[in-house]
Amino acid sequence: MKDPVITISQLSDHVEEQVTLRGWVYNWRKKGKLRFIILRDGFGYLQCVVFRPNVDDEVWEAATQLTQESSIEISGKLIADERAPGGFELQVNQIKILQITEDYPIGKKDHGVDFLLNHRHLWLRSKRQHAIMHIRSEAEFGIREYFQTRNFTLIDSPILTPAACEGTSTLFETDYFGEPAYLSQSGQLYLEPAAAALGKVYCFGPTFRAEKSKTRRHLMEFWMVEPEVAWLRFEGLLELCEDFLSTIVSRILDRCAVDLERLERDVSKLDAATSKPYPRIDYGDAVQRLKAEGVEMEFGEDFGGDDETVLAGLFDRPVMVTRYPADIKAFYMEPDSEDPTRALAVDVLAPEGYGEIIGGSERSADLEHLERQIATHGLPREAFDWYLDVRKYGAFPHSGFGMGLERFVSWMCGIPHLREAIPYPRMINRLYP
Ligand code: 4AD
Ligand code: MG
Repeated sequence: MKDPVITISQLSDHVEEQVTLRGWVYNWRKKGKLRFIILRDGFGYLQCVVFRPNVDDEVWEAATQLTQESSIEISGKLIADERAPGGFELQVNQIKILQITEDYPIGKKDHGVDFLLNHRHLWLRSKRQHAIMHIRSEAEFGIREYFQTRNFTLIDSPILTPAACEGTSTLFETDYFGEPAYLSQSGQLYLEPAAAALGKVYCFGPTFRAEKSKTRRHLMEFWMVEPEVAWLRFEGLLELCEDFLSTIVSRILDRCAVDLERLERDVSKLDAATSKPYPRIDYGDAVQRLKAEGVEMEFGEDFGGDDETVLAGLFDRPVMVTRYPADIKAFYMEPDSEDPTRALAVDVLAPEGYGEIIGGSERSADLEHLERQIATHGLPREAFDWYLDVRKYGAFPHSGFGMGLERFVSWMCGIPHLREAIPYPRMINRLYP
């Protein structure tokens, strides 16, 4: 076959030409002297039509053998046809079979989610997973571009760490030549010193939490993007959160329309999140609002997933809950100067039940306060010596946040569980494949 080899993303440049495509049989059906093959090549889907009178016996024979997910090279004349799905059709004159697939495990019938997760490596070939992975990739690209074009420097934080960042109950421990080491829960502690070196920094990488809870919002391994900015105070942090989030949501709506449509996402529900400002609500007021909605909780308690859903449901766009009680938040936060029992912390809650997608705060610049906090949280002081140096050698105000990529992607895609928002999910009972 000497025809130009093209991909489904290039169809419009080759109308009325003889071309070859390589891919897998997504689906096929027969109708008299016709065989309709839906080819998938990773870039899209193309209807290929084999018409018995127009091909020789060998090609017809090949066409009748094809099964779901057989790998093929297929050639013919490409035509534009409004009636065809996607607007193009290949009038086939050659088929080369690489492998006939027997008994492909994922069929048209409904499979249970455990079955699909056991076959995650194959499940990725489905239309829905294809769309989700595309949106995830675009989100990652957009996030990097957001920071790179705003003068942030990328700082890759380590995965193997000597101490906890976000509490000791969710640490994955490993043996580091006879010493305990932990998989990183957050790059934040490494970003704070880097902010003193480079002003505006961010990290974006895998993060690990041994979450013992089995919820649709938790993974053991997830990706987090974390900016950290020198001299930024709490008000500025809130502005950064809403500017960042509204920019990335707009980008997904602009660039992923085809994928969102494939997922049947009601995009009108995302529109409000493209404009600033986002509402801000004080933690204390949030508790009052929840009580008024009939939720049983007391001031001082943290919100559960269901509480977040109720609270976020009162707004049409993400809501920023501010000034949480200090003792339900991490050790490094700056106390509120008006009420030191509160921390200058923010959680950004997404609508439609997606809950907390961003957590951030102003960081304490005060050495003695942090030393007390480290003791109160039962953390080993020696492991934090280097971190505390930032408060000894030119202490400065700074703030930052972390956004979980899978929570963001699930929200964009409108999927109920985080497990589909990452290529190979790690969950409480799942390390395979
Ligand atoms: O609120 P978290 O724990 O904050 C931090 O780790 C800070 N050190 C970030 C910072 O200020 N630089 O986590 C931040 C975000 C959450 O809002 C959520 O989106 C996500 O990370 N996240 C998880 N995503 C999936 N599975 C889990 N187990 C997650 N835990 C947190
Ligand atoms: Mg949090």
